[in-house]
Amino acid sequence: MTLLAGKTVLLIIGGGIAAYKTHDLVRLLKTRGASVRIILTKAAEEFVTPLSLSSLSGGKVYTDLFSLTDEVEMGHIQLSRAADLLVVAPVTADLMAKMAHGLADDLASTALLATDKPVLIAPAMNVRMWRHRATQRNVEALKRDGVGLVGPNDGEMACGEFGAGRMAEPGEIVDAIVDMLKPRTQPLAGRKVVITAGPTREPIDPVRFISNHSSGKQGYAIARAAAELGAETVLVSGPVSLAIPPGVQMIPVETAEDMLAATTDELPADIAIFTAAVADWRVAAQAGQKLKKSAAGPPTLTLAENPDILATISRSGNRPEIVVGFAAETENVVEHATQKLRKKGCDLIVANDVRRDSGVLGGDRNTVHLVSESGTENWPEMSKDEVAGRLMERLAGMLIKQQGPSG
Ligand code: CTP
Repeated sequence: MTLLAGKTVLLIIGGGIAAYKTHDLVRLLKTRGASVRIILTKAAEEFVTPLSLSSLSGGKVYTDLFSLTDEVEMGHIQLSRAADLLVVAPVTADLMAKMAHGLADDLASTALLATDKPVLIAPAMNVRMWRHRATQRNVEALKRDGVGLVGPNDGEMACGEFGAGRMAEPGEIVDAIVDMLKPRTQPLAGRKVVITAGPTREPIDPVRFISNHSSGKQGYAIARAAAELGAETVLVSGPVSLAIPPGVQMIPVETAEDMLAATTDELPADIAIFTAAVADWRVAAQAGQKLKKSAAGPPTLTLAENPDILATISRSGNRPEIVVGFAAETENVVEHATQKLRKKGCDLIVANDVRRDSGVLGGDRNTVHLVSESGTENWPEMSKDEVAGRLMERLAGMLIKQQGPSG
């Protein structure tokens, strides 16, 4: 029950009706053994008082960035330095926007920008504010920065509407804190993981190309998960508009031939995961100059088959211990994936259903089936980040079983 003994949590309370739940949150954190320091934003002071929170936490509650004595004794840098984790509950849409953009104009936002500690946010807001594209963009940016998210939950809100926007319950927030502070095992330390991701771009002439809609999201999420498990992680990526995950080396490529060469250069590796949507064909004779319209009518493009990167590497003398392919299918998903497993010589195929109505392509969620010679495992729908985390845990387990722990 004292899972948080010896830990200091800096609780930043934003302005929202859910702020009243932080009384319970502080109480719970204390019973788990944590010391709690508290910052209230100006808006939060409309909902809860420094006095009640300081009686519960047994410490001072900080409210004013420009309080000179506090700046000397316990400035914003000190506050975040002394904490093991920062939790913002409730985090408002406004505070998330500030965090996502690195604004620092009060004590709360300054402490958040000055920290290198884990940060957890528990959003609470009106359902339409939560679903607004701007908010969702900010949530994505924060997740990419490694910020943890708990909630929001569905339910009736103070504004009388129903939907996602209720702050997670104090118990859930404490569980998320315990989880974030758990010492991370790094089962892939000393191992190398190479991942292909994104589309390839096959030039027609200097200004035109053949490509596809791959967003690269699943591959980038896998790279992030591999790096988090301690692997030396190399991402060979076609053109996408995604941030490079922390600790990942990204090698940008355009064509399938470049992708094959760059991936081959990264061998030997322990695990190779091929998520890229490689163009099956390239233009056989790329025009040196921009093709012009002419009276003779449109040009005829002759296509040549691209190398199969996955099949080439899985059959090479330098084959990684574990080779994983992806299969994007619109029908008979498992049957087609099983054929691909054999044709391409890989250990595992992650098959996803990419029917037009599935929302997988370009979206954030995925429903996958893990197909191997030992059978098929159907995973429930989950976020691409969760697919990535679970997949990497699984592959790390397979590698250790085959090779034993590294080093
Ligand atoms: N792949 C690859 N190189 C290629 C084509 C595909 O490395 N030239 C990899 C993909 O990254 C993926 C797997 O092979 O991991 C399956 O790709 P997919 O496009 O589904 O398979 P295809 O071989 O193109 O089969 P089909 O066109 O019949 O769906």
